[in-house]
Amino acid sequence: MKPSLAAVLAVATVPFAALHAATAQTSSASALTLMPVPAHLTTGAGAFSWTPSVTIGVTHFRNQRLDDAIQRSLLRLERATGVPRQRTVTTTAASSLVIDVDGPGDAIQSIDEDESYTLSVSASGIKLHAATVVGAMRGLTTLEQLVQASGNGFILPAVDIQDTPRFRWRGLMIDTGRHFEPVEVIKRNLDAMAAVKLNVFHWHLSEDQGFRIESKIYPKLTGMGSDGLFYTQEQAKEIVAYAAERGIRVIPEFDMPGHTKAWLVGYPELSSDPGPYSIRREFGVDDDAMDPTKESTYKFIDAFLGEMATIFPDPYLHLGGDETPGTQWKKNAHVTAYMKAHNFKNTEELQTYFSQRVLELAKKHGKHLVGWDEILTPNLPTDAIIQSWRGVKSLSVAATRGYQGILSAPYYLDGMKSAEDNYLADPIPADTTLTPAQQKFVLGGEVCMWGEQLNELSIDSRIWPRAAAVAERFWSSADQRNVDDMYRRLSVESLRIEADAHTTHLTHEGAALRELAGTEDIDALRTFSSILQPVSFGERYHFQHTSQITSLDLLVDAVRPDPPSRHNSILLVADLLKSPKGNSAARAQLTRTFQSWIDAAPIVSAQMDQSPLLAQARPRLTAFASLGHIGLDALTYLNGKKAPAGWKQKALADLEAARKPEMMLRFTVIDALHNLVDAVQ
Ligand code: ACM
Repeated sequence: MKPSLAAVLAVATVPFAALHAATAQTSSASALTLMPVPAHLTTGAGAFSWTPSVTIGVTHFRNQRLDDAIQRSLLRLERATGVPRQRTVTTTAASSLVIDVDGPGDAIQSIDEDESYTLSVSASGIKLHAATVVGAMRGLTTLEQLVQASGNGFILPAVDIQDTPRFRWRGLMIDTGRHFEPVEVIKRNLDAMAAVKLNVFHWHLSEDQGFRIESKIYPKLTGMGSDGLFYTQEQAKEIVAYAAERGIRVIPEFDMPGHTKAWLVGYPELSSDPGPYSIRREFGVDDDAMDPTKESTYKFIDAFLGEMATIFPDPYLHLGGDETPGTQWKKNAHVTAYMKAHNFKNTEELQTYFSQRVLELAKKHGKHLVGWDEILTPNLPTDAIIQSWRGVKSLSVAATRGYQGILSAPYYLDGMKSAEDNYLADPIPADTTLTPAQQKFVLGGEVCMWGEQLNELSIDSRIWPRAAAVAERFWSSADQRNVDDMYRRLSVESLRIEADAHTTHLTHEGAALRELAGTEDIDALRTFSSILQPVSFGERYHFQHTSQITSLDLLVDAVRPDPPSRHNSILLVADLLKSPKGNSAARAQLTRTFQSWIDAAPIVSAQMDQSPLLAQARPRLTAFASLGHIGLDALTYLNGKKAPAGWKQKALADLEAARKPEMMLRFTVIDALHNLVDAVQ
C-alpha cells in the first residue's frame, strides 16, 4: 500500500525536499519511476528478484558496442543494488536475463535508426528484444529504472513493455563557445542524455567569444580565437565515439555568418573590413560577420567543412545563421555595390544567398544543413532543417512549406523556467493546425543550454534534471501530461542521473555554498538557498550586464532552477488546505519548515558578515525570515484563531513584494504561501 502523504511528510527531514523521494520508495507497480514513460506498458503479477545469481545471455546478434552497453548497465546496477554483477555473458537462452538483438543497426547512426524495444519481466526472468543495438540500449536503461528496493533486497516488478520514441530527433544543445566546457563535462552530460534516451548532442562550437575546435588547416582559429580553451581533433573524435557508444548522434554547429568574431581574430579577411578584431567579451548580437560577397569566404568555408567532415560523421551539420543584423555589410561600399549588382533588396536576401552557397558546400561534403529559424527565407532549398528558437510559430510555418523542423523555443534552459513549463510545451501541441502529413515534418526538439552565465561547475545544475522532463516530452506519448507524476519521477531520476552519470547538478549547490560561506557548516545557508532560484538569463543580464569575464561565484550561481521546494510546497499546502484543522501532519511539517527559516536567518546573517560575496544576497535574507512569520501566522489563523483586521491584505501585499527578484534571486515558495494566506478567512 502507498503510505499516505501525511505519513510521508511526517518523516521528511529536509523541508519540502524529501516528499517525492519518499513516496517513490513503495514497491507497487503504481510507484514505477520510469522516465521517459514507455509507449505501452502493462503490469503483471509478481516480480523478478535481482540477486547475484542472475545470469545473462545474449542469444542472437552480438558486437562490442552491445557488450560495452551491457557491461555499463550491469556496473550501474551493481552500484545501485550492492548485488555483485555477473562477469560472464553467455549465449544461452536459458539465462535469467536474455538480450536478443537482431542486428547492429546503421553503421553511422541515422535519423531513422530503429530505437524500439520490448522488455518483459516476470518472476522467472527478463527478456529484452530489439532490432538494433541502439534499441537494446534504450531497453537497458528502462531495465535499470525498473529496479527498486523491496524488503532487504531489490526487485523488478513484472511488466510488459513495448516502447518506441514519438520523435526521432531528441536533442540537447550545449554552447561551449561563450564558456568552454572540458571533455569530462561533455562526457558526463552524454551519459545523462543516454539515461533518458536523448539521441542528439548538438555541439555549439564557435561563437563571438570563442572558437573551440582545432583546425589544422586554419590553426589561427583556435590559436588566436580561443584563449587556449578548445578541443583538439583527437578529443572531438573521442567525444563523437563516446556518444556513438551510447546511441547519441553528434551534430556540430559552426555558427555563421554572424556570431563569428572569434574566427575573424585570426582571419580578418573573412569579413568585409580589415579589422583588427579581438575576441568579443560582451554578449548579445555583434555587428561584424563573414563577408558573403567574396569568393575567398566560400573557399575558406569549403576547406574548413571538408576538414570537419573527417571528425564528425553525422550527415547533418548545423551552420547557425542566427542574429546577423547586417550592420557591417550595410556600411561597406563593396558589399552594398555587390547587393545592388545582384538585385538583393536587403541584407536578409544577401544572407539567403550565403545560406544557399554554404548549403551547396555542405552537400559537397556529404552533409545536410540545419540552421536557426532566420534561414527560413523564400528561396531556401527544402532539404535544410529549421531549428525554431524565436517562437513555436516558425516550426509550423516551416512544416507548412515542406521543411523539416525541430523545436527549441520553449526549451531554453537559461530562461530558468520550471520543469513543468518545459515539460508541457509540445513540438506538436494538441491544438496544432498542421495536417497529419505536415506534422511528419516535425522531427522533434532540442533542449538548449546557452553558455553566457554558466561555467564547468554550474552547468550540470542548469541542465539537469529539467532536461529529463523534456526528454520525456520528446519520447513519450503526447497525452503524458500529469505534472505531479512527472515531478514524482523526476526527483528519482535526478538522483539516478547524478549517481550514474556523475553529473554534479545536486552536489554543486553544497560545494558552492561551502565556498561562499568559508565553512562546512552550511545547514542554515542551505535552508535559505533551498527556497531560492536564479532569475532568467535576461533578468540577470539586465541587472549585472554579464560578460565572458564576469566571475560566476555568487549565490545566484549556487542555487538551482526550479528546486524541489517550489512544486513540493504547492503540494503540501494543497494537502493541508483539504482539511486545515484536521491535517496535523501537514501542519506540523509546515510549522517546522517556517520555523526553520526564522531560525536560519540570523545564522546566515552572521556568515554574510564574514563573506562579501554571500553578503550581496542580504536583501533576500530579510524577506526570508518574514516569509517564515507570514507562514506561521497563516497556520495559526487557519487553525481557528481569528486573524486581526487587515492582516491578510498586508500578508498578501508582502508576498507580492517578495515575489520580485532581488540580487538576481527569486523565492520559490511565494505561490504556496499565497495559497496558504489566501485560505485564511
Ligand atoms: C539563438 O538563440 N540565437 C539561436
